[in-house]
Amino acid sequence: MKILMASSEAVPYAKTGGLADAVSALSLALAKLGHEVRIVIPRYYGIDRSKLQQLKGAMGVPTGAGEEWSAVYTTDLPGSPAKNPVQVYFIDHEKFFGRDGIYGSPSEPDFLDNPRRFAFFSRAVFQLCRKFDWYPDILHAHDWPSALVPVYLKFGERQGGFAKTRSVLTIHNLGYQGIYNKDNFYYTGLGWDVFYHAGFEDWNMMNLLKAGLYSADKLNTVSPNYAEETKIQAHGFRLDGVLRYRSADYSGILNGIDNGVWNPAKDPHLPAPYSVKDMSGKAGAKEALQKEFGLPPEPEVPVIGMVTRMVDQKGVGELFGPSYGSAWSICRDMNVQMVILGTGESWCENEVMNLSSRLSNFKARIGYSEKLSHLIEAGSDFFLMPSRYEPCGLNQMYSLAYGALPIVRNTGGLADTVENFNEKAGTGTGFMFDDLNPQAIYNTVGWAVWAWYNRRPQIEAMRLVGMKQNFSWENSAKKYVEIYEGLAKNERGI
Ligand code: ADP
Ligand code: GLC
Repeated sequence: MKILMASSEAVPYAKTGGLADAVSALSLALAKLGHEVRIVIPRYYGIDRSKLQQLKGAMGVPTGAGEEWSAVYTTDLPGSPAKNPVQVYFIDHEKFFGRDGIYGSPSEPDFLDNPRRFAFFSRAVFQLCRKFDWYPDILHAHDWPSALVPVYLKFGERQGGFAKTRSVLTIHNLGYQGIYNKDNFYYTGLGWDVFYHAGFEDWNMMNLLKAGLYSADKLNTVSPNYAEETKIQAHGFRLDGVLRYRSADYSGILNGIDNGVWNPAKDPHLPAPYSVKDMSGKAGAKEALQKEFGLPPEPEVPVIGMVTRMVDQKGVGELFGPSYGSAWSICRDMNVQMVILGTGESWCENEVMNLSSRLSNFKARIGYSEKLSHLIEAGSDFFLMPSRYEPCGLNQMYSLAYGALPIVRNTGGLADTVENFNEKAGTGTGFMFDDLNPQAIYNTVGWAVWAWYNRRPQIEAMRLVGMKQNFSWENSAKKYVEIYEGLAKNERGI
């Protein structure tokens, strides 16, 4: 089938979180299954044009405020099968994307013109297909930034070359919906009847994701458990009603992990490879991690790692909140070492640096580092993810693959991928808790540390069980293909 992924992020070009990993890895897995896959993303300022090939001619994109002219660049996605490369297209437009930041900058965390930028981008997706006279069977959009793609398809574009095209919208995170003042609706170029008909209206504001959820032929999110959770009010971010309404077309497909990139047996960021058959390299990774963060290289003290966006979703308040967060008491009371890498809300960045200077067994690094994130997964004994909600979560799957036992909240995709430790039955791959509060995190970390010192053979056995799990993208890609094929046969679709 011909599939076009429209996304605001894709590794290795633009990434703020797991969305970027998921889009590229799914595309590669689909190409390996023999499908013709293309990706389109904006050409942000940080993407080096000199490494791309520019296509001939400018491309005009109609917007509510007149036609905008853009350039288009292209390249093959690294890791593509040689005979069936995934072609990536970049929409280049200085006014909208020639600036630092994907969605915002430190001084303007959510760019004021985001609805205009992403309306332009979503419209450009259709122009791109026309430019090549290449029409996909499936337009696959991701999260709010490309949620307008299914809306445009349903309200106007489904004709000519697109007459048989069907749309899929994947929710990677319901917490971000693209809600803006409805004055911005003008930039979509759609009529006001569509504002109401497509479901943009949201308490007198404009909600891009909501319109996408009403308009796409099929919807899914990134784990089966999150698909269920989001249909109830507590997890639905006010869109649970829409998701219940669309429940016949809404499912959960677990993300995979790219085991070409996240594989301790061939990870260039580690001092030595290791695998289930020979775990000796893990001790070297632990030592390298301890040295990197300035911790005493003690093999017997468990290291708890974290790599995270420092935002409310990730439970950072309960962990690092000044005076009430549990990280302080964990490090004070337990014989552990803790390392964290991340960026995010400034109160949290400040607080972890503060803890770093006050505690000898807690070390933090503020910033984004691919290399360090691999070293943390490999060098840690436990990996902490106390998420408030988690649509899928990639880090806990990476940590399972690297033999670092996840300590997670029992929610979303974490519940689908981690099995709680059961001492009597001798089963489990990690440690879980239900309620999110500082005491629960403290107790569960305490339980894991207790097991480390008192049930060591079980810990070692759990590591191996975790490392043998199969989170391949191939399985997930096949489930997407089922959805695509169903749509091609006209199963549902609105
Ligand atoms: P989310 O997408 O909600 O942030 P995921 O667990 O799905 O959560 O994905 C997070 C991804 O981003 C992982 O690949 C993780 O390694 C990466 N990541 C997050 N913060 C950093 C950082 N500071 N440095 C390197 N990688 C990071
Ligand atoms: C989002 C979610 C995360 C998920 C990722 C990729 O960023 O927060 O849980 O793994 O998207 O789908």
